[in-house]
Amino acid sequence: MSVILLGGSPAPHSSSSRLLQHIGERLALHGQRVSRIEVRDLSASALLSLDADEASVARALAGVRQADAIVVATPVYKAAYSGLLKAFLDLLPQDGLAGKLVLPLATGGSQSHMLALDYALRPVLASMSARFILPSIYATSDQLGRSAEGGLTLAAPIAVRVAQGVEQLVSELRLVAPRPVSEPASAKDLHAVPA
Ligand SMILES: Cc1cc2nc3c(=O)[nH]c(=O)nc-3n(C[C@H](O)[C@H](O)[C@H](O)COP(=O)(O)O)c2cc1C
Repeated sequence: MSVILLGGSPAPHSSSSRLLQHIGERLALHGQRVSRIEVRDLSASALLSLDADEASVARALAGVRQADAIVVATPVYKAAYSGLLKAFLDLLPQDGLAGKLVLPLATGGSQSHMLALDYALRPVLASMSARFILPSIYATSDQLGRSAEGGLTLAAPIAVRVAQGVEQLVSELRLVAPRPVSEPASAKDLHAVPA
């Protein structure tokens, strides 16, 4: 089973990307094959001109196509998800999430927009035929901290939500039939998607 971590923040030191990375590490500990796409590393002009053939975008789209599950992370911007994430989702086919599990997560400045994932992103993911969209994970920036070693620390309620989200995704992945041996598994090639 392969999982794509899809980061939709334009910020180089992104809270949502740190949380995404943390979840990816937890999934890897459960034996999942995890690869990562940061949309900000893809060609900006290709994203803005809907050029699905540009090399970095084409590799990312292939990774999504071949994945069994996508963990989608975004900052809350203006009470919704980021425009950068939308630019990438717009490059996928209308049924580009068919058969896939999706775990949405977001970080925001306050609790005011904690439903943004549910009223804004979830309908978009559903319109793209996601097989199952798991309950969303939302954290405010001040619920994420840094340990003395520089690692991520989570406020207790977020740690619980993350553990539940990871457990649920892993159990749902176990229900998905394994791919035929002949099918390529190139998601692993996306560990470092070149810009
Ligand atoms: C342009 C912009 C718009 C934002 N709009 C909101 C908002 O509407 N609601 C909110 O709670 N936080 C808002 N924030 C705060 C971010 O969601 C918050 O800092 C988030 O953790 C950033 O995640 P990132 O570091 O992954 O980019 C906004 C930040 C920026 C830069």
